[in-house]
Amino acid sequence: MIINKVQLGTLIFAFTVAVTAFNCKKTTDSSVSDSTTSSTKGYNTLWIPPTLTGTTFNLTLGSSTKQLRTGAATATYGYNGNSFWGPTLIMNKGDDVQINVTNSLGDQTTVHWHGFHIPAIMDGGPHQIINAGATWSPNFQVKNNAATFWYHPHLHMKTQEQLTKGAGGFILVNDPVESALPLPRTYGTDDIPLVLTSRRYNTDNSFNLTTAYGDYLLTNGTPNAEISLPKQFVRFRILNTEIERAYNLGFSDNRTFYVITNDGGLLNAPVPVTRVKLAVGERVEILVNLGSDAVGSSMDMKAFNTGQVFGFPGAEPASSGNFGSLLNNIDFSLLHINVVAPTANPIMALPGTLANNVYWTNTDVTKSRTITITGGQAGSAFTFDNNTYGFTAINQNIQLNAIEKWTIVNNNIFGHSFHIHDVQFKIISRSSGSVAGYESGWKDVVYIPLGESVSVIAKFDDFSSGVSPYMYHCHFSNHEDEGLMGQFLVE
Ligand code: C2O
Ligand code: CU
Repeated sequence: MIINKVQLGTLIFAFTVAVTAFNCKKTTDSSVSDSTTSSTKGYNTLWIPPTLTGTTFNLTLGSSTKQLRTGAATATYGYNGNSFWGPTLIMNKGDDVQINVTNSLGDQTTVHWHGFHIPAIMDGGPHQIINAGATWSPNFQVKNNAATFWYHPHLHMKTQEQLTKGAGGFILVNDPVESALPLPRTYGTDDIPLVLTSRRYNTDNSFNLTTAYGDYLLTNGTPNAEISLPKQFVRFRILNTEIERAYNLGFSDNRTFYVITNDGGLLNAPVPVTRVKLAVGERVEILVNLGSDAVGSSMDMKAFNTGQVFGFPGAEPASSGNFGSLLNNIDFSLLHINVVAPTANPIMALPGTLANNVYWTNTDVTKSRTITITGGQAGSAFTFDNNTYGFTAINQNIQLNAIEKWTIVNNNIFGHSFHIHDVQFKIISRSSGSVAGYESGWKDVVYIPLGESVSVIAKFDDFSSGVSPYMYHCHFSNHEDEGLMGQFLVE
């Protein structure tokens, strides 16, 4: 939210890198453009990322271009020749996976497996740098429960730039508990991954790489996206990859829908809602019943972002400038949905229960700590406990197998999206109200509104790490790049 000298420096550097990268690996995709619309209303067919399965996954990050609007194509990043974003990795809990990440950019990068419980040196944080032209080959056992995770660059001070250009992808984990449930799971047909973000364009159609807010929505990298969905229960796996903006999600007819998973796994039972707030980095899986909709009817999935309290990212009233955007403080469409005939074996009912999670409570806690969001005054960067991120600093030392309660205190200017690596946590309390049913499951990101303290409990088990740190940070990539990030060891 604050533009400072660090960002200005990044802007100049980013511009140099963009020009350099253009001469490296380059793929071009013109499949989505304002002129190749699939209907008379100017919609474009939603892009569904291709999938990779098995236990060996090869990823290559490269530069590309994508025709996103009338005029020049936009310089972008994508994995495996995709012109924005990357393939969806499908993994099974318990598998030992080998990943080979090749960096075809003319710049360093890293790839972080967001939400995964893995050894710190496999984590892909700022310390696992992949030089230009190099390949990084982490391997680990998949220990997480079935849910929707994602991978993305985490190079310190370059995360915003590389994410903005499109680097990222989904990871879907399967496990026996989820597989035994009667849930929609035909990828791209009744099980739809949705990555939501927005971009601001420069006059040459390149992305603005330093803005906190985009002006034009991209749904799976598709502007004005639409999809045809069968007349039955449909599942969406929704990820917010904005720089700062949060979404107050719902449907244009205000229908009830059902949250079935949080960031790290199934809820105990579906939670009926008409709105869900989804902050940067958070995921929800939802079920929507299209079984009563007429074939040929349509509706929109929307962000109902009008009139949010100050501090909600995207509530600022300005329509331009550093704190403004064409999407601020309005309701806008995320996806246009056309209802078509049901598939052969449709899911027509909502399961009553989903999982038997046993969550940590206050009585389990072996250690408590408080982290306060500081800084951000008069154009300075936000910090945790008055410490800006240090590559060699250790901010928290945690005992292996500790069950810790972290209270994040935010009485300071604006809301933030707080993320802890390595663990899934349970949100125990919010100082200004109750914890919503739709965020009652395992989480790795929690939204911290202005004026609130939020407490979460996690167990730091399995992986001791006395040298290579794990990260905790604000998931607004501009805040993270500016130093709203800390490091912890588990010993
Ligand atoms: Cu999604 Cu530290 O990251
Ligand atoms: Cu922040």
